[in-house]
Amino acid sequence: MAHEFDRAYWDDIWAGAGGSVGDDDSDRPAAMAANPPNPYLIREASRLVPGTALEAGCGAGTEALWLASQGWQVTGADIAAEALTIAARRSAELGLSGRVSWVEADLAVWEPPARYDLVTTHYAHPAIPQLDFYERLAGWVAPRGTLLIVGHLQHVGHGHAHGQHEVHGQHAGHDRSPQPPVEASATAQGITARLEADRWEIVTAEETSREMPGHGGAPVTVHDVVVTATRRH
Ligand SMILES: C[S@@+](CC[C@H](N)C(=O)[O-])C[C@H]1O[C@@H](n2cnc3c(N)ncnc32)[C@H](O)[C@@H]1O
Repeated sequence: MAHEFDRAYWDDIWAGAGGSVGDDDSDRPAAMAANPPNPYLIREASRLVPGTALEAGCGAGTEALWLASQGWQVTGADIAAEALTIAARRSAELGLSGRVSWVEADLAVWEPPARYDLVTTHYAHPAIPQLDFYERLAGWVAPRGTLLIVGHLQHVGHGHAHGQHEVHGQHAGHDRSPQPPVEASATAQGITARLEADRWEIVTAEETSREMPGHGGAPVTVHDVVVTATRRH
């Protein structure tokens, strides 16, 4: 591993982003805040009845704010204070502050005060192993609730580009060339193997690609893993 994905790393990624949300300068970390809500979240959550939700590794809050706009009562949690400052400002601007609370927390060690009807995450990868992180999130889902994981797809044999972490300065693997570091990626099989069959019903287990605008507007292809599961009890 080139480095730890620890608080210092993520603080550094978000440092200086606060003043530039909405700027056209897509080279800056604030580009993460300028992207539309994740399409898999929209697809998967649109099937659900709104309740309480945790957005784990919420960054500047795009997905948390979309959930709030759909009637969910959302907790957005992130390790980076600067990201949450941006998120809080955006929620105020959108009139959604009453529907979202922002929690600065290291989700590798944090314990939630309650279970959630939806626990979701988009490209978050902490210093602990990725599948261990997803297993922690699964433990925070209320009975009959939903786990939705959207992450970087692990490409076996593609020569993972350790050290190409400028990926985060753009949007979670959405640059033209870099693969996410292998320790930050997963497969659908790897994730579902952590969800015991007697406790989880797998709704979606998908490895997929999509195009989105990259720097300069040229389309780039991103490779995602999407797992949605319902907790049986
Ligand atoms: C690649 S960014 C994705 C942000 C956002 N979910 C998105 O899709 O735009 C990963 C996010 O996870 C957060 N993160 C990483 N490790 C974390 C941890 N241990 N606890 C909480 N958040 C963490 C980072 O600060 C960062 O905001």
